[in-house]
Amino acid sequence: MAAPYYHSTAVIDEGACVGNDTRVWHFSHVCAGAKIGEGCSFGQNTMVANGVIIGNNVKVQNNVAIYTGTEIEDDVFLGPSCVLTNVSNPRSQIVRRGLYERTLIRRGATIGANATIVCGVTLGRYAFVAAGAVVAKDFSDYTLVVGVPGRDEGWMSRHGHRLHFDRLGRATCPESGYEYILQEDQVRCLTLSEEEALPDDLTVGERSYDEFKK
Ligand SMILES: CC(C)(COP(=O)(O)OP(=O)(O)OC[C@H]1O[C@@H](n2cnc3c(N)ncnc32)[C@H](O)[C@@H]1OP(=O)(O)O)[C@@H](O)C(=O)NCCC(=O)NCCS
Repeated sequence: MAAPYYHSTAVIDEGACVGNDTRVWHFSHVCAGAKIGEGCSFGQNTMVANGVIIGNNVKVQNNVAIYTGTEIEDDVFLGPSCVLTNVSNPRSQIVRRGLYERTLIRRGATIGANATIVCGVTLGRYAFVAAGAVVAKDFSDYTLVVGVPGRDEGWMSRHGHRLHFDRLGRATCPESGYEYILQEDQVRCLTLSEEEALPDDLTVGERSYDEFKK
């Protein structure tokens, strides 16, 4: 493993903790109390605030600010210009430091471009927030969240494909072949536990999203 890489324009405050193989690109800022895992990438103009905890292999696209109160587990994807928040009722005249609300983005979740996460919510493992959605409540594992306000529009597999459940509550991901089960409104993968790493041969995409839909 290599030491973390910081572009020459990035500012990494003393005391920030950044794991090996993590890359921080142009004009980005990691604040002193931030804790970032291994193998992550932070695109141009990103910011990680004091007290934020980020797991391993998290991909943060350009123009994303991750504010105090946010916790991000392993393998999360934050799309370009998505917005995270930490105070429900901000007022410039009222100091609410110390009242930051907790937002938890669980393992493998994706937040689409330009989506907004209103603070105080938990986004389940492998949940998928569509571009431009506004998430204002909790969503469970594998939920596809679309629109404003964000609505539950079905389910996305770990590889990011719609899951169409049959009468018995079973569905198969067209890319990985993994089997999923829907029981009492919760989805679980039967082939590989949510906490296990994907095998290497299933970590590279070779066909587009639309090709799998046909
Ligand atoms: C949600 C998403 C995965 C598509 O899901 P899908 O179910 O395959 O959607 P489809 O393309 O089949 O469209 C189904 C309907 O949803 C609408 N739709 C698609 N994406 C939408 C979105 N982000 N917000 C609102 N509506 C959306 C379509 O217009 C269509 O509406 P219609 O039925 O009235 O014609 C995709 O649009 C998306 O938002 N991906 C995230 C992309 C992104 O942010 N990437 C970041 C890395 S660059």
